[in-house]
This record gives sequence, C-alpha cells and structure tokens, in this order.
Amino acid sequence: MCVVTPSSVLVSSANFPLANFWAEQLNLPLVTSEPAAGLYLIYDDQGLALAHADLPSIHPVRVDFSAGAMAHRLQQGGGRGQALAKACGLKAGITPRVLDATLGLATDAVVLTSLGCQVVGIERHPWVAALVQDALQRVASISELSWLEERFQLLAGDSTQGMAALAAAASFKPQVVYLDPMFPSSEKTAQVKKEMRFFRDLVGQDLDAGLLLEQALDLASHRVVVKRPRIAPELAGKKPTFSLVGKANRFDIYALHSLQGK
Ligand SMILES: C[S@@+](CC[C@H](N)C(=O)[O-])C[C@H]1O[C@@H](n2cnc3c(N)ncnc32)[C@H](O)[C@@H]1O
Repeated sequence: MCVVTPSSVLVSSANFPLANFWAEQLNLPLVTSEPAAGLYLIYDDQGLALAHADLPSIHPVRVDFSAGAMAHRLQQGGGRGQALAKACGLKAGITPRVLDATLGLATDAVVLTSLGCQVVGIERHPWVAALVQDALQRVASISELSWLEERFQLLAGDSTQGMAALAAAASFKPQVVYLDPMFPSSEKTAQVKKEMRFFRDLVGQDLDAGLLLEQALDLASHRVVVKRPRIAPELAGKKPTFSLVGKANRFDIYALHSLQGK
C-alpha cells in the first residue's frame, strides 16, 4: 500500500513555515534540493505537492479547490445532473449525508459538497491526506468557498480498520457511503493519465478494497455507491441493485432504502 521510498523528503525552495509544519507532521527531512530518485513532496508558493524524481516531465500533483481543473469541474461539472450526483441519490429536495471512505484527492467529495451534501472523507495515506488538508487551509479565507469548511470534514485513517468507529467519532451518520478504490490499471489507461502514475505509485492498488464493501453496507442507512472503471468486475463480486454507466466509469449502486426529501 504505502510504497514511498525510505529516502523520501520534503523539498522547500524558500523558508515557508508550513513546509516545516508538514515535514514534522509527516516525519520527513526538510531539504532544499530534489532527491535523485523516487517520490517526494515539495512545498512552494502554491502549497504542498507530490512529485516524482524519475518522472520530471510530469507536473507535480496538487490539490487546488480554487483554480484549474477542480474550479472548472465545480463551475461546469453539470450540477445534480452529473452521474456522480445521480449515483449518490441527489435530486431536487434530496441532499444526503455522504461518507467518502476512499477520499483520495477529494475531487468527488468536494463536488458532492458543492452540491449541498454534508461530506466526511476518510483517507489512509498520510501524504494524500496532507495534500487535501493543505489545500483546505489555503482556501479557508476565500468567502466563495466557505461552504467547504461548513460541510466538508477530512479524517485521516483507514476505513477497513473501522469505518463505523471513524464516522461515529466525527458524530456522522452517513446516508450514503461512497467508495472509489484504486483499480489495477491497464497500460493504456496509465498512458492517458500520466499524472495518475505516480499517485498510483504512492498509494498502491488498494488490493484490500473488497473489505470496504461489507462495512459500507453495514454503515450506510440508504445506499452504497462504488465507482469502477466501465468494464471492471463488481467490487468483491457483489451484484449491485443497479448501475449508471458512463464513457470511462461506472457507478454501482447498492440500494438499502429509498432516499426521501424533507
Ligand atoms: C482512486 S483514489 C480516490 C479518488 C477520489 N474519488 C477523488 O475524487 O479524488 C483512492 C484513494 O482511496 C484511498 N484508500 C483506499 N483504501 C482506503 C481505506 N481503506 N481507507 C482510507 N483510504 C483508502 C487511497 O489511499 C487513495 O488515495
């Protein structure tokens, strides 16, 4: 799972106080030049990012809720008509509480939050959780994004080690549990999304993902939603109630109770 090389470091080209903070939090040496090989974190004037010394032509992976692809997705993503929202049961008058048990870089979770959901996201890789936490801190003073602080909460932890306990500790009773574990990629997929390559190198392939479904079905009051590549087999071989199939992805929906409006 965690395949960060022992020589991993946090690089900062200037004296940013938060670089020190993250170096201490993540127990990484803070240095000023890039390592010769492997994955590392950098801290610069745009915040924390994940880089790979062996893949210098690929831009570092950053989380930014106020600009770039994320801002575009929030503005142009299709609102409640997009497949993710439909899969999670959002409709006029229905805005469920969602536990995202495989948060990753929080794109899906933040889209759901922007549509009005209360969302708790759990991420087990400390570097990934740090990338999201740093991004949240950077937008904390942006009033147009105040809904993020109001409705989204990040928890660092492993969902297979007690998803229910983590949710209870945050006093959160999810109506929907959302799962999007990493899926072993084909070469073609890896070439298309180059920046995902080193994200995959970092977090691994989530080979224990099957364990999540049972816990999710116990915890969700209304439905469990699993995102899969379009033609992938069902998670843990369990047939969903129904699926929403898009161009690249499929959402498998395990319906427990019907979501009602207020
Ligand atoms: C494919 S990514 C999720 C992408 C996410 N949906 C997004 O929109 O950015 C999968 C993430 O789930 C995390 N993960 C996998 N199993 C987990 C578990 N048991 N507990 C917490 N996080 C987990 C991995 O570390 C990885 O960051």
